[in-house]
Amino acid sequence: QVAAASGHTVVLVDQSDEILKKSTKGIEESLKRVIKKKFADKPEAGAEFIKKTLKNLTTSTDAASVVHSTDLVIEAIVENLEVKNKLFQTLDKFAPEHTIFASNTSSLQITKMANATTRQDRFGGLHFFNPVPMMKLVEVIKTPMTSQKTFESLVDFSKAVGKSPVSCKDTPGFIVNRLLVPYMMEAVRLFERGDASKEDIDVAMKLGAGYPMGPFELLDYVGLDTSKYIIDGWHSLEPNNPLFAPSPLLNKLVEEKKLGKKTGEGFYKYK
Ligand code: 3HC
Repeated sequence: QVAAASGHTVVLVDQSDEILKKSTKGIEESLKRVIKKKFADKPEAGAEFIKKTLKNLTTSTDAASVVHSTDLVIEAIVENLEVKNKLFQTLDKFAPEHTIFASNTSSLQITKMANATTRQDRFGGLHFFNPVPMMKLVEVIKTPMTSQKTFESLVDFSKAVGKSPVSCKDTPGFIVNRLLVPYMMEAVRLFERGDASKEDIDVAMKLGAGYPMGPFELLDYVGLDTSKYIIDGWHSLEPNNPLFAPSPLLNKLVEEKKLGKKTGEGFYKYK
């Protein structure tokens, strides 16, 4: 959405037409929210902005067949290294020489993905934040093999889509998630111990620390499955680190398919 809105030609790839239809509808709804503010007094210009943005956006269910005309691939699939590597290996065969590959991973090592391809120097991390149209930050990750030219291209691209880039080494969680995920897990543990209700913890962090959402609201917003993938991955890397300890409650909710806002229920229920 933000790439298309800033004039880039985008092919959105997913597993089925049904998912793509849902994604396109989500983008249309989000664009309507964007223009409400951006073109408050000029509804016609707003409608034109949506039309232009959607014109820049096509969809496909076959990544290998569209990657031949791509300068940049941004992968944002399931948080599973094996699955990501398999996709990158396939795309590596079909993408032109100059194409840069980037992963939007929240927690996995970029270096391990780059090593699955033959383009380690043209591989980096581009980590966006939910909701991407609103959140100004992008973390740009340079592995020891990422070339300076690739890094600069990723920084330039981040700026071209209207974001503020920061850079970080290829370290678990980069900057934001390394701080945010242990904080959210501590909130779950506080609740699990019965020390405070989730509602009060959320109110406390909003009114007492100025966060726009409380930790339980944010966990539901990000997705409990994604949060579990992140913490499980780090726990397997550092089993003795108490900050990365799994939570029985989070595991139970994921098992029950209560994944947060996207499934209608997580820590809270949604209509
Ligand atoms: N698309 C477009 N616009 C959107 C939007 C979307 N998806 N979601 C919200 N907005 C807009 C609304 O239209 C509204 O615009 P307005 O000011 O013109 O009315 C504005 O954002 C504020 O929205 P709301 O009034 O509905 O609600 P809030 O004031 O609570 O703001 C929020 C919503 C921007 C999501 C805010 O609550 C927030 O900043 N929350 C924290 C988000 C956060 O921490 N994200 C990081 C998560 S971690 C992550 O993503 C990393 C990953 O790897 C796990």
